[in-house]
Amino acid sequence: MAVELKTKEHIRGIRKAGRIVAACHKALSKRIAPGVTTQEIDRFVERFMLDRGATPAQKGYKGYPFATCASVNEVVCHGFPDSEPLETGDIVTIDMVADVDGWKADSAWTYAIGKTTSATEKLLLVAEQALLDGIKHAVIGNRMGDIGYAVQARAERAGFEVVTAFVGHGIGRNMHEFPDVLHQGIPGQGIPLEEGMVITIEPIITAGRADVYFTQDGWAARTRDGAWSAQFEHTVAITKDGPIILTRWD
Ligand code: MF3
Ligand code: CO
Repeated sequence: MAVELKTKEHIRGIRKAGRIVAACHKALSKRIAPGVTTQEIDRFVERFMLDRGATPAQKGYKGYPFATCASVNEVVCHGFPDSEPLETGDIVTIDMVADVDGWKADSAWTYAIGKTTSATEKLLLVAEQALLDGIKHAVIGNRMGDIGYAVQARAERAGFEVVTAFVGHGIGRNMHEFPDVLHQGIPGQGIPLEEGMVITIEPIITAGRADVYFTQDGWAARTRDGAWSAQFEHTVAITKDGPIILTRWD
């Protein structure tokens, strides 16, 4: 249950991995287009990391077979990359973790393929804003519930729901560490946020109801009602100077 607080040195290590993840997302944002397959994206990400001295930490993690999770439309997360070309109007969440010298950084981003509907644009905008609101509250003296409340409030004000089946997490030498980072909460409740915590904030926001089910591969989760969902995730260090986004690229 213990939360490992990171030193500046540790955070530098995680930031190294974070910079590669960030650069990779930036490259993807220019590359993702109609006709591209998630398999091609997955290969691109793996090569991108290997060429820069990083390894894709998701590959082999609990038997997960790919460098990325690629979750299209109503797939909420942990989708397998495949040979289906992305089509105009689709959205795809690409989630990746880089490992550099044992330190990990994790970031997911939802990309629109060409032009989408205004409803989908709103979903993406609100989901990204929910992440940024959460990050703003990741400050010493706050509690975990302050982050969750900020995320949830942003989503629900827009008429969306948070998929609470998935949570953020501490990260460092391991992809998943304590504490859990809930994307819902009550202000002032939950564990105190301390200097040196490095966490992911990664709310999944859906335009429909939050209920999900797992598909046959045992990994991909989908919304029960078929509504689309978006997810934006950063790795964030809680420091005396405020939250530092270690995977920032935009
Ligand atoms: N990157 C994911 C996260 O945000 C983990 C994906 S699970 C994996 O926690 F096994 F596919 F890596
Ligand atoms: Co992730």
